[in-house]
Amino acid sequence: MSVAGTRRLCRAGLVAVLVTALCVLTLLDSPPQLPDPPADPPPTPGGEPPGTRSIVAYSWARRLALDYRPTKECDGNGTYGTTLNTFKLADEKWLETIPGQLFLYSAHLDLRVAGYPSLRVIGVKRGPLPTSGLFCTVWYEEDERGRAVSVEALVSTIWLDEWGETVDSYAGILVGCQLPPDPAIEPSRVYVGLEPCHQDASHSLAIKNREERNRTEGRRRQFTLCIKGLDFDEDISAKIVAFVELHRILGAEHFYFYVFNVHENVLRVLRLYESSHVIRWFNLTLPGDLPNEKTARRRLLAEDIWTKRRMELIPYNHCFYDNLHRSEFVLPIDVDEAIVPVRRNNWHELLLDERIKLGRSFKDFASYAVRNVYFFPELQQTRNQTDRPSFQWNDSSTTDDTLLTGLDYLDTIRTACISPEGDSVKSFVSTRRALTVHNHYALTTLNPSTRRAHHFDPDDVLKHHHRACDDRHLDCEVMMEDVRVDESATRYADELERRMRVFFNDLKAFA
Ligand SMILES: *[C@@H]1O[C@H](CO)[C@@H](O)[C@H](O)[C@H]1NC(C)=O
Ligand SMILES: *[C@@H]1O[C@H](CO)[C@@H](O)[C@H](O)[C@H]1NC(C)=O
Ligand SMILES: *[C@@H]1O[C@H](CO)[C@@H](O)[C@H](O)[C@H]1NC(C)=O
Ligand SMILES: *[C@@H]1O[C@H](CO)[C@@H](O)[C@H](O)[C@H]1NC(C)=O
Ligand SMILES: *[C@@H]1O[C@H](CO)[C@@H](O)[C@H](O)[C@H]1NC(C)=O
Repeated sequence: MSVAGTRRLCRAGLVAVLVTALCVLTLLDSPPQLPDPPADPPPTPGGEPPGTRSIVAYSWARRLALDYRPTKECDGNGTYGTTLNTFKLADEKWLETIPGQLFLYSAHLDLRVAGYPSLRVIGVKRGPLPTSGLFCTVWYEEDERGRAVSVEALVSTIWLDEWGETVDSYAGILVGCQLPPDPAIEPSRVYVGLEPCHQDASHSLAIKNREERNRTEGRRRQFTLCIKGLDFDEDISAKIVAFVELHRILGAEHFYFYVFNVHENVLRVLRLYESSHVIRWFNLTLPGDLPNEKTARRRLLAEDIWTKRRMELIPYNHCFYDNLHRSEFVLPIDVDEAIVPVRRNNWHELLLDERIKLGRSFKDFASYAVRNVYFFPELQQTRNQTDRPSFQWNDSSTTDDTLLTGLDYLDTIRTACISPEGDSVKSFVSTRRALTVHNHYALTTLNPSTRRAHHFDPDDVLKHHHRACDDRHLDCEVMMEDVRVDESATRYADELERRMRVFFNDLKAFA
């Protein structure tokens, strides 16, 4: 193994549980001269994810004062009115506002801090942005005439400095645009670029208004799942259905799926779920001169792990902000994972326990992290790995008892080693307290005094990771020496099967 230098002990045994300290993990895909990649930053004592020191200990009030920017009225000589009719709905394309350097993806109204309404614009920058500053131009629809204001933009990178950043790379950004404190009038469009009072309102991002939010989002939910850009040629439709139904049993009320490229059957599954308001899905593209042809894009994301990691944060943060006022938690997760409580039946009960356990300090955290264990398929003796049927569209022999065959969410053999705190965790991220999200936990928090993550006790809940062991990243031999029987997922089998049967019957009826 050429990456011996990056090997490290799995610290789980020392910190939280009395398990063997034998299990050795190595970090993922380290490019030679760069520090630890972001998917698995090194765990830090006390369960606080790395990067905490970058949060300066100033108060909440001071932060608001520092971030405050006065707004300036733009001379509206009719520009708004004349361009109003040319507004397009936002599509999957990026809005390029500084050629080659700044690409905007979406804009969201953030009313979390009373008296300080603001817009959060998610985008990507390439290389350093001009030091002279950026400006937000915000349009309001007031009666017939419309109005525009301009305010200095507050730009932060959705990334931590210690993860390193090469000068020329693409990186996600969150732009804050402070609004005048009049919550009665909602902004309708925003532009972020070099000039204050940008004139062309048709070259801007739409902001969902209240009515639209009511229509598309419905009632307030507790848990929404965010699934990053799917990119699979194979027909994984049965897996997607099992993933959605298992997580609905566990407590997920809504799902945001992002799609680079999937099989036609997966699209049919997504469309049916969309029509019954179980999920929303979005086609995803990469910005700037990054490739969007399927093969070239896949090659880039496989080879340039840093760009892949940075770009994954765009859908996660879009999902977070699109659910800001509609879901109590968002949970970024992959389709080969499941968050399974050990003693409780669902996430609602799990969180309730944690609230009681933590008391008032529950609210001191922006994310609640679930530790990782591997259910390597190689470990499952009872299942024939080559025998993985997926739902057959034209085949009536896909009967009830074959529905669950070949799906690994109910596997029962896992590694005894629990990945260390901070390593490969997935978190319930609080929409009240986080400012940006990362695949593992909140990356930054709204109130600087909020701690970024609290870890659940692994005796209460585990993240089941169903993937083949990859010995470039893990010491598979050692990890597989010490395994446990874990049947915590099997109690959902009957309900899962029933739900999948119902879904596939509907699918056959409507497809
Ligand atoms: C008014 O509109 C004209 C043409 O659309 C533009 O050239 C001019 O700069 C605008 N004036 C102000 C004050 O915005
Ligand atoms: C949106 O829904 C809320 C409550 O669900 C309601 O009070 C409000 O009037 C609705 N707004 C619009 C514009 O429909
Ligand atoms: C994604 O793109 C496909 C193919 O162009 C299209 O049929 C589908 O409606 C798009 N999905 C969404 C959610 O916009
Ligand atoms: C697994 O299934 C395949 C085809 O279904 C079969 O050829 C193979 O012999 C089976 N392997 C075992 C170990 O049962
Ligand atoms: C279903 O269709 C696939 C290809 O579309 C074909 O290979 C297969 O034989 C068909 N199965 C049945 C039962 O008709």
